Amino acid sequence: MACLLLLMMLTACAASPQDLSGKMFTFPEETKTANVRLMTASRNFDAVTVCLRSITDLSRNHALFSLATKFVSNGFLIFKSPTEDVITLIVNGKSINFEVQDYKRNVWHTTCSTWDSASGLVQLWFDGKPSIRKFTGGSNITEPSVILGQEQDTFGGGFDVKQCFTGMISNVHMWDYILSPCEIQRYVDNLNFTPGNVLNWRALNFQIGGRVLIEHEQLPCL
Ligand SMILES: *[C@@H]1O[C@H](CO)[C@@H](O)[C@H](O)[C@H]1NC(C)=O
Repeated sequence: MACLLLLMMLTACAASPQDLSGKMFTFPEETKTANVRLMTASRNFDAVTVCLRSITDLSRNHALFSLATKFVSNGFLIFKSPTEDVITLIVNGKSINFEVQDYKRNVWHTTCSTWDSASGLVQLWFDGKPSIRKFTGGSNITEPSVILGQEQDTFGGGFDVKQCFTGMISNVHMWDYILSPCEIQRYVDNLNFTPGNVLNWRALNFQIGGRVLIEHEQLPCL
């Protein structure tokens, strides 16, 4: 009984979410191991919004947000394509390219993407600018494995050093519904917004593998 209680406490401890406000994940080297696994609050989605901030100096392709399911490794993937100023969004294995303006290196960028299965439309908001809305279709995303820093070619693994992310990522939120344009604007402007109900940067359940650091965001001096 005492053993069981201890086990329950340990499990609760391991699962206790952290408030990462003012912090960022630093991915300081190119490896096929460094990654952060994010535990989602729910496991069946018919709509998704993901927002995050990131900075990198990579010019090759790299994953910004990799969600795999047992059925499809690219369940919901935000991917910087090797083509200049193109971000690829893959939902349920179907890939859509978005032309963005100025995916500059060594600059913090905000990326939000939305999808819902009812309309089958995806949209990308890059630095607060909405793309056109494109059709991808798709059915529910279930039992997700979400990873930052690496691109999953299999469920929870299959990392490729040539697709890994180096740089910093912060403010990751995921909702199981579509945020309105005004709510997205509030996120982009760092105003008060409704935090993600699936992934919440202020109460994040995660597990770090390899060399990834939690550091304070480097803000400009006043
Ligand atoms: C799809 O997801 C929605 C929202 O979670 C749920 O209400 C619905 O039952 C799901 N449909 C299937 C076929 O799993």
